[in-house]
Amino acid sequence: MKNKKEFEPVQVDQYYPKIVIRLLEKILKLNSKKIVLFGFSDNMKWLVSLLCQKSIEVDLYDWRQKFINYDCGGKYILHVDNLKDDPDTFIIVCEEEINSLKNGISYLQKLGKNKINVIYDKSSPNLPFREEEPFKSIASNAQNRAISMISDTQLFDLIQFIKQTRKVEGDVVEFGSLHGGSGAVIAEAVKYFGEKQIWLFDTFEGIPVSKYGLDYNWNGSFSNNSFSEVRNAFKDLKNVKVIKGNIGETYKLVQNKISFGYIASDTYETVEILLKFLWSKLSVDGIICICDYGSFPNALPLTVFVDEFIEKIEDEVFTYRPDKFGIFLIKKKHK
Ligand SMILES: C[S@@+](CC[C@H](N)C(=O)[O-])C[C@H]1O[C@@H](n2cnc3c(N)ncnc32)[C@H](O)[C@@H]1O
Repeated sequence: MKNKKEFEPVQVDQYYPKIVIRLLEKILKLNSKKIVLFGFSDNMKWLVSLLCQKSIEVDLYDWRQKFINYDCGGKYILHVDNLKDDPDTFIIVCEEEINSLKNGISYLQKLGKNKINVIYDKSSPNLPFREEEPFKSIASNAQNRAISMISDTQLFDLIQFIKQTRKVEGDVVEFGSLHGGSGAVIAEAVKYFGEKQIWLFDTFEGIPVSKYGLDYNWNGSFSNNSFSEVRNAFKDLKNVKVIKGNIGETYKLVQNKISFGYIASDTYETVEILLKFLWSKLSVDGIICICDYGSFPNALPLTVFVDEFIEKIEDEVFTYRPDKFGIFLIKKKHK
């Protein structure tokens, strides 16, 4: 290993992954006796070849049995359990896939060889909905069914609500399904975390004319839709009911208690009916999410209604309002 004074920046070609360049730069700054690459991956292969070009000695280790004795660029991978607890050793974590990276860090933590220095990195931002299991599979299975108009952040929240309420008694209900995209995320999450009855409600032909002038802005929106397409998207799931009609009437079909209720129907008129209904049916620890709360200017009337409703149930509810829009109501035990 070169010492610091001899350090000269390497010219790394553009096609090397960003993380490899960053890890290499960190390694070159180390004046260490022993460099250990940890976690078999493409990044490890790149680093082996780059460090070899620079005549820097490395050893390769992993925590996963399946990679032990694996040949990586002419070097064999050893088990990290056999590494000596030595302050002159630097482990460079090469794995970047988030679930494996977390497992690798957890393994090192439990290994307890605390004198060894560990260098880890992650060049891409934290995007659990797209990159981390089980969210990633739930998201891609859902996307194969239908597309949603809401953001990944909001869809990620839905998965978490289904997880949080998996042991709470009751059905899962969505009002305002449009093409079925958010319903698909809900359905895939329910499939993953534990089967429940799911209801998806919409006219599937747009927002009906409201009895309130305050909803004037919404009348007729989202009319480009197809009930049969949405119904087909869920035909393999026996626990999903897709109900067509004005939700101001069809909501009455839900007789059971509710563990999670999702309101995405935008209007003052529907939120007035549905929030009262859902709250009366919601089990303790159940959650209601109002998708468009705080989305201004369009959802101003419903936001005003929700604020007034929450004031009336203040002692029974825990609310969480994320930045921008949406609000979550969790039912507390009655004191
Ligand atoms: C913003 S979209 C829902 C977006 C959807 N959740 C998604 O993930 O893409 C609102 C939906 O609510 C439905 N909706 C609003 N008022 C309704 C009512 N009174 N009866 C039935 N559906 C209604 C509309 O037809 C529309 O499809």
